[in-house]
Amino acid sequence: MKTEITELFGIEHPIMQGGMHFVGFAEMAAAVSNAGGLGIITALTQRSPEALAAEIERCKAMTSKPFGVNLTFLPSVTPPDYPGYVRVIIESGVKVVETAGNNPQKWLPALKEAGIRVIHKCTSVRHALKAEAIGCDAVSVDGFECGGHPGEDDVPNFILLPRAAEELRVPFVASGGMATGAQLAAALALGAAGVNMGTRFIATQEAPVHDNVKQAILAATELDTRLIMRPLRNTERVLNNSAVERLLKKEQALGEKLTFADVAEEVAGVYPRIMVDGDMEAGGWSCGMVVGLIHDVPTCKNLIDSIMAEAEEVIRSRLTRLLG
Ligand SMILES: Cc1cc2nc3c(=O)[nH]c(=O)nc-3n(C[C@H](O)[C@H](O)[C@H](O)COP(=O)(O)O)c2cc1C
Repeated sequence: MKTEITELFGIEHPIMQGGMHFVGFAEMAAAVSNAGGLGIITALTQRSPEALAAEIERCKAMTSKPFGVNLTFLPSVTPPDYPGYVRVIIESGVKVVETAGNNPQKWLPALKEAGIRVIHKCTSVRHALKAEAIGCDAVSVDGFECGGHPGEDDVPNFILLPRAAEELRVPFVASGGMATGAQLAAALALGAAGVNMGTRFIATQEAPVHDNVKQAILAATELDTRLIMRPLRNTERVLNNSAVERLLKKEQALGEKLTFADVAEEVAGVYPRIMVDGDMEAGGWSCGMVVGLIHDVPTCKNLIDSIMAEAEEVIRSRLTRLLG
């Protein structure tokens, strides 16, 4: 299948893996890229620009296919060394960067000059238009159902994607809630040029996380995610657990008075304990409603092949048959 996204990134299938904190290591990115999608290393999971450089080299040793790096700009008390990470990305020769969070404008000239394709992930049409205006090559449109930070507008993909199609000129991928070939076909029908998946890629053989995380995804249904940190306007969709319930009780009790310090115990620095140690009650971790559609732990190749086969069957057969 050829789309503007397969052409832009030089990949076989219109499927990319979104940056994921403590999941997007070289093993994950290489597995997705080797399966014909676009794998992404998460820059900020690496403690320093030097560590990111080493991670990119590890990934190059595992795949000869294109892969990218995610750079997330989230509010933080002590900002990471963004100039250092950008320098390493450029020097490493990586050809795709997925930006997310705040406006990436400041970093675009350097990335573009190095011939890097930039896809910005955002949760509203107005931010997507801004990304297009500042020169991003593509946009990843993240619907309300997504794992991680869905923004504050709460527009699900059945509205957000056709709205993006109405307004955007650059190609966009559908992100949030994606797991199946029927969904890929639907996303293409709504104007997207591919899909971006997060949660679905965690439940794969190659995802370098503790098996407890994969089992938690298999056991969960579409009713098991919660939105946290809404009063802080930093909403995150996470899988429910005892820490999340404790956090939500604090949000209810403190109302408008809630500060980050009140919830830090449940969210700050919890990822290594969850993803590495498998302590599933350690805190809130990003997870999409799509868990309701995840029933197995395939290899990335089997997953992507089956998505592509189903999308093809839907387009060639199920939909075409309707026309008689
Ligand atoms: C465990 C986890 C960690 C994530 N960490 C990041 C991150 O660090 N930066 C980022 O831009 N997106 C992050 N995301 C969001 C994903 O890249 C992607 O946009 C999202 O998962 C799509 O929704 P889905 O989970 O329904 O597929 C994370 C998602 C998950 C599930």
